[in-house]
Amino acid sequence: MKKSGVSTKCVHSGDLIDDKFKGATSPIFPSTAYDFVDVEEDRYPRYFNTPNQKALSKKIADLENCESALLFSSGIAAIYTSLFSFIKSGDHVIFQSSIYGGTLNLVIKEFKKFNIEYSLVDSFVVNDYEKEIKNNTKIIFVESPSNPLLKIIDLNAIANLSKKYNLISIIDNTFSSPINQNPADFGIDIVLHSATKYLGGHSDILAGTLASSNSNIDKIIESSINYGGNLSEYTVWLLERSIKTLSLRVKKQNENAIKIAEYLTTLDKVKSVYYPGLKSHSDHELSKKQMKGFGGMLSFELSDLDTAILFTRKLNLVKSAMSLGGVESTLCSPSLTSHSKISKAERENLGIFDGLLRFSIGIEDSEDIIDDLNQAFEKL
Ligand SMILES: Cc1ncc(COP(=O)(O)O)c(C=O)c1O
Repeated sequence: MKKSGVSTKCVHSGDLIDDKFKGATSPIFPSTAYDFVDVEEDRYPRYFNTPNQKALSKKIADLENCESALLFSSGIAAIYTSLFSFIKSGDHVIFQSSIYGGTLNLVIKEFKKFNIEYSLVDSFVVNDYEKEIKNNTKIIFVESPSNPLLKIIDLNAIANLSKKYNLISIIDNTFSSPINQNPADFGIDIVLHSATKYLGGHSDILAGTLASSNSNIDKIIESSINYGGNLSEYTVWLLERSIKTLSLRVKKQNENAIKIAEYLTTLDKVKSVYYPGLKSHSDHELSKKQMKGFGGMLSFELSDLDTAILFTRKLNLVKSAMSLGGVESTLCSPSLTSHSKISKAERENLGIFDGLLRFSIGIEDSEDIIDDLNQAFEKL
């Protein structure tokens, strides 16, 4: 049978049919108590198997070209559940060092309590990951594009390395969304999202997802039931509704982002622009190979922190906000938010200078976003 296109998957995959009243949208089944007599399986929200959970999980799995998926109460719940489903005391995990700050915090604060070792690799060269592999290594965890400099790692090479040493490869695919990148197509084992960002898309839902093979999901579900990080039925329903427009939103964000990135490169007041869609980006060729769209995230650098803050204050349409992936354009200073817990020297070592602003492009008209940026630049 012909496979559906991605926009059709967003609207229809995993449709929960309203047989009773023939409504066009999915009904909500909020029950936490289900019959236990003559049933195929015990149904309970914390078992990740209610009708709404199953329907939306099917949509996520289809969008990520995976066999199966699970929904969580936050991105970080999806992240810790996937990690702790595969590791035990004495094991070792390799992380790309430029991952989401909350994931780093989880690793640094929690792993030592359970005697789990880790290595942080400050590199996008896959050989540097191979150097860190030890007898007790179980997982390689990456994020691409990275936060906030939008650097790209070769997904196929990471997947092959993981297979060579019998490791699980995990990617946080939040920045791309399933519209722009499907890591499973390159052999990555587990694909995570903070659904709080692009999947939810309206800055009003906290959720997480993971997608993988049936056998990995069977293993993860055993632990998930114990950790209890499932998503509430009402939020499952809202997230399903949001994802119906995911493809439209992300395509508009991609279109806006390249226009804004190009505009920013023309300005003397902007020292650098980081966007994988720009030919000048160090990983442009690799991103063309593994991304279907370059995404709605970009960063640009002004002279210093004071200028960056002054610029942020002068914006009218674009809001200052710590999150990303919403329909509205927002920006934030990594030095004051995601990377505030590391020293200025360490930040600069990573290429994150205080004048850097991370920009989450919304779905407004690009001309209006550029007008707003322009009037703010004129006031510097
Ligand atoms: C890339 C990325 N991954 C994971 C997370 C964590 O997601 P949540 O806040 O939904 O737990 C975030 C949150 O900002 C993020 O930006």
